[in-house]
Amino acid sequence: MGDEKIELLKPKGPAKWNKRSAFILAAIGSAVGLGNVWRFPFVCYENGGGAFLIPYLVAIVTAGIPLMILEFSLGHKMASGAPISFGKAHRKSEWVGWVMVIVGFIITVYYAVIMSWCFNYVFQAVNSLGWGDSPGEFFNQTLLQITDGPGSIGGLSWPLVIGLVLTWGAIYFAIRKGARSVGKVVLLTVPLPWLLLVVMSIRGATLEGSAAGLNYFLNPDWSALLDPGVWLSAYGQVFFSFSLAFGVMITYASYLPRKADINNNAVIISLSDAATSFLAGLTVFATLGFLAQSGHQSVGEVMTAGPGLVFAVYPTIFNQMPFWPGFFAAIFFIMLLLLGIDSAFSLVEAKAEAWITKLGLRRKPTLLVICTIAMLMGLFFATGSGLYWLDIVDNFLNKFGLILGGLFECIVLGWLYGSKKLREYANKQSEIRIGRWWDFLIKYFTPLILIVTFGLDLYRTISEGYGGYPDWAVFVGGWCVVALIFILSFLFSRIRTRKREAADLEGGEADA
Ligand code: PFF
Repeated sequence: MGDEKIELLKPKGPAKWNKRSAFILAAIGSAVGLGNVWRFPFVCYENGGGAFLIPYLVAIVTAGIPLMILEFSLGHKMASGAPISFGKAHRKSEWVGWVMVIVGFIITVYYAVIMSWCFNYVFQAVNSLGWGDSPGEFFNQTLLQITDGPGSIGGLSWPLVIGLVLTWGAIYFAIRKGARSVGKVVLLTVPLPWLLLVVMSIRGATLEGSAAGLNYFLNPDWSALLDPGVWLSAYGQVFFSFSLAFGVMITYASYLPRKADINNNAVIISLSDAATSFLAGLTVFATLGFLAQSGHQSVGEVMTAGPGLVFAVYPTIFNQMPFWPGFFAAIFFIMLLLLGIDSAFSLVEAKAEAWITKLGLRRKPTLLVICTIAMLMGLFFATGSGLYWLDIVDNFLNKFGLILGGLFECIVLGWLYGSKKLREYANKQSEIRIGRWWDFLIKYFTPLILIVTFGLDLYRTISEGYGGYPDWAVFVGGWCVVALIFILSFLFSRIRTRKREAADLEGGEADA
């Protein structure tokens, strides 16, 4: 089926990007987010500091960039969101797209909660550094009102609830008009936080003791490379950070005009994201070095790791700033918010697009329903036990949901559909061309690494549990959630697609 026919069959649906830069900015906006500044440092910290950088770089080269090209080609070629695109590539594989959409949905639920933490920190910053002398305590006791374990749910933290409502309001506002409004919002939400991050990194590097922290970050400890969990975390982090295996990049590429570059864009977007993580890592570890020195401890000892890392570390720098601490602090947390918002709305957009095309729904009401449901589900993470559950769900979704999503993606597109077809398509569109090595990565190398590390880590998680949480909590928040995702995906893929797209699905293979 020719390109014009795809256009004809495509429902009137989403607007296209009006410029190449709008697409690049929106994709960078999706990729660069809390994952770089909030998640990367603590995952790095938990996986041996500098040791983590090696698997991380390997994961970028062998999976990050190749899969970005894969998703762009698929989305652009099929001109649809993830589930329908997979359905067109291979009739029985629509469920893979649904796995991605559902994993993305759950991630948005807790992602918005972290943004709600940010809202509260902006407020405290302006309120003359309201976290006081011990930011760690403020975070755990005052803001989260943390309980002593996942079993005691505790009450709702009202400041978090208010932050959550504000976050969802902002997300809805940004995407209500699809590519058109997103294209405008990202003009602000992408460059500004970058600038702020550069300022913060300079500040971090000039603190006393920063060298010890940087050393911890940059010194590889080769022995950690023998740990499959470290590799799995690296691939999971690359998927999370590059927004891969969520359907987002597929959806965004489907909004590109027919003549658009694929390979170049994929490289630009991937490298920008990796560079941001690196810069954020430098900043956080420099600061940890400073904290260690002032407390006469080693860098490894200064902090308990985990999702709270950035929220306890950064306020400490602001407390020490000789001038305008409140100003810098507010800017920093506003930066996190801006980083997070375009990632969050890209996730919502990918889901909304999937449902809108599947069932032929109207855009605005669908968005409103999705935003409301996700907000209500987020309340669970705003309770006293929220942080524990967030940690469990985040770990399982990234390790098992995303990795499996990425693995099935490689199998369906690499083997069942044929990576050669997508490579030729990408090359036809692009300035730089990719060779057969790409097929090798998609068909053999990446799936193999994912299967091996997945298998080994699965074994370990089954035998040891996760993070010292009670078994029942890991069962409910981890295994059950992952199982539910797969069950729902199969069910969704059985719902009949509305007529026009169904006609398109019929023609999917001929499309090649
Ligand atoms: N890439 C985003 C980040 O690093 O914060 C998170 C994210 C956004 C993941 C969108 C997935 C996604 F589809």
